[in-house]
Amino acid sequence: MSIIYHETSKTFHLYNDSVSYIMTILQNGHLGQLYFGKHIRDKEDFSYLLETCGRPMSSYVYENDRTFSLEHIRQEYPVFGTTDYRQPAVEILQENGSRISDFQYQSHAVSKGKPKLNGLPATYVESEEEAETLCITLKDKVSGICVKLFYSIFAKGGILARSVQFCNEGNALVRLSRAMSLCLDLPDCDYEWQQLSGCWARECHIHKRNLAPGIQSIGSMRGNSSHEQNPFLVLKRRNTDERRGEAIGFSFVYSGNFRIQAEVDAHETLRVLAGLEPDTFEWKLDCGESFQTPEAVMVYTDQGLNHMSQTFHKLYQKRLARGYWRDRARPILNNNWEATYFDFTEERLLTIARKAKDCGVELFVLDDGWFGARSNDRAGLGDWVANRERLPQGIAGLADKMEALGLKFGLWFEPEMVNKDSDFYREHPDWILSTPNRQVSHGRYQYVLDFSRAEVVDAIYEQMSRILREAKISYIKWDMNRSITECYSKALPPERQGEVYHRYILGVYDLYDRLTREFPEVLFESCASGGGRFDPGMLYYAPQAWASDDSDAVERLKIQYGTSMCYPISSIGSHVSVVPNHQVFRNTPLHTRANVACFGTFGYELDLNKLTEEELAEVKDQIAFMKKYREVLQFGTFYRLKSPFEGNETVWMAVSEDQKTALVGWYRVLNVVNASYTRVRLEGLHPEYCYQNLQTGICHYGDELLHVGLITSDETAGEASGDSKPCTDFESRIYVLEAKER
Ligand code: DGJ
Repeated sequence: MSIIYHETSKTFHLYNDSVSYIMTILQNGHLGQLYFGKHIRDKEDFSYLLETCGRPMSSYVYENDRTFSLEHIRQEYPVFGTTDYRQPAVEILQENGSRISDFQYQSHAVSKGKPKLNGLPATYVESEEEAETLCITLKDKVSGICVKLFYSIFAKGGILARSVQFCNEGNALVRLSRAMSLCLDLPDCDYEWQQLSGCWARECHIHKRNLAPGIQSIGSMRGNSSHEQNPFLVLKRRNTDERRGEAIGFSFVYSGNFRIQAEVDAHETLRVLAGLEPDTFEWKLDCGESFQTPEAVMVYTDQGLNHMSQTFHKLYQKRLARGYWRDRARPILNNNWEATYFDFTEERLLTIARKAKDCGVELFVLDDGWFGARSNDRAGLGDWVANRERLPQGIAGLADKMEALGLKFGLWFEPEMVNKDSDFYREHPDWILSTPNRQVSHGRYQYVLDFSRAEVVDAIYEQMSRILREAKISYIKWDMNRSITECYSKALPPERQGEVYHRYILGVYDLYDRLTREFPEVLFESCASGGGRFDPGMLYYAPQAWASDDSDAVERLKIQYGTSMCYPISSIGSHVSVVPNHQVFRNTPLHTRANVACFGTFGYELDLNKLTEEELAEVKDQIAFMKKYREVLQFGTFYRLKSPFEGNETVWMAVSEDQKTALVGWYRVLNVVNASYTRVRLEGLHPEYCYQNLQTGICHYGDELLHVGLITSDETAGEASGDSKPCTDFESRIYVLEAKER
């Protein structure tokens, strides 16, 4: 990996074995983008890549020069209104009402490693050799605003992490009204756009379209990164598939309002912007103050979508997630939510826990309803003290009982919310986000605490940390069950109200930071009514996230397949739940529910006492299987082989780092009568290893499985044959392949 500056051609070249990123200082001092793509050899001068032409009816920067028009030049951090009419990366409202700025190159510095982003989640390095960072300083002389553009290139993989810092070195305050983290101008628009969209219980569905002239965008103005659009975009060439071809993934490391957009101009060039949603953001920057944007990560590959995802997985698993649980296989848990909802007593919980322990479960999680006056969703949020009618010895007493059973104990919180029917709200009615003299909207009868205020965060921290100190708690599920409305903080002056959405998220990060520091061995799982905040920002604090409230195995195929585009399997919270399923009322076989959930963190969301003896035996086997293979399932290299969005069958697989163990998950939604033969070509195996298929006992060399494929034909389709159990709808199998000693 290298970052090189060629003085004579004023060109920067960041590269490693996979990728090159080339920029130049333009004749007006702005920064121009020359190339981003597969690694090319370095040389002194790439100026031929700067195409400027005199297009008719343009505006030009210099008199007597009809070639230099910013709207026809690819740039790094463009501004609006000085010959570029595309959407800008930055906009600054100045004292005189002007929004024009002119950011010219001042200096640059290259450093080893990667600097931290103060108060914000970001990818990191563990040694200076893992990355290099280029910081380019630009300055607008009239306003005195300095912009520092940070580019970190990692030693391995086509990864570039970017962020921007603003410093007001001028004499007057300004207002930042747009401060994107990333701009990438590309020379053509011949890409297919792929986004992860959905809604509650239907998160991360893959949607594709070809880029078209104009602006296409995804984003959130809900205060959370949202179920509706994940902060992740792929631009891929039309012939790119999972196994081959070029793609660029854009991921925004943030949990609040965002926008990722692509603008195709009249000449078919493309501008990608990613950052804080400008429509809900404004930041007052006083003299001497600075502002740091969140990080945006770009991954380039020429080896297909699986390779792009694997690059993200590894980065986010090892260099975004942190702490004790980062590299550890995740405990198999039993969560009581779908088993009891609000209707439980301590004895009922212990009855569920005993059976769970008997089956091999390691962690019992007590979900919503254990605190204050919380017997339904209308009361109690904000009062993080145990309800003694339900839990006579409090949380500490219950945790002790769980430990005595041989189980770890976990607890649900929703720290950012209050019900009006709570002591916390009665004491601090002005601590919710609400606009003066206007009605305040609720979501699930709850109101959003003003986490932009340090005293509010402090008060919640006090309550949560007290419980964590008193009780043996090994896991926290941090929920967030509504989006923000009437986003106004009574603690900030009128001219700072545009800062509230971002300050709110900074408050959430601050609370996470304090708790994860003080309780480093507690496993945090983030949640926002399922996947409403499944984003890289959260993964920095909580290495796993509840992917969806929809726990139906068929629905989960699409949700988990889509989620895996960016996020590692070790982060995908997935459980076996009861049938008929509580969201779609579908009956799926127990083994299929487990076969889907095991490509995730794995657990049970039901009362195992309600299962038959036969089913319990199956559950015990599932848990034993998961314990044996969870390292591979959660931390192995993951490949998508057949998409649930394209047909009746889904296939995916995980391969251990040493390539000696592979698990292939095969799922078929509807049964097929008189079915065709099916097979699937596997990935990631060692061509020379001899793998035994533990289902069939047959041995195959890796090259057979890679090139001929694994036969998945269903011998029972059509009619029940002999002893074999007939398949039904929602059938699935896990094929275990183990390499024998050579
Ligand atoms: C929404 C979560 O996604 C569920 O798993 C559960 O924790 C409920 N909230 C509890 O209110």
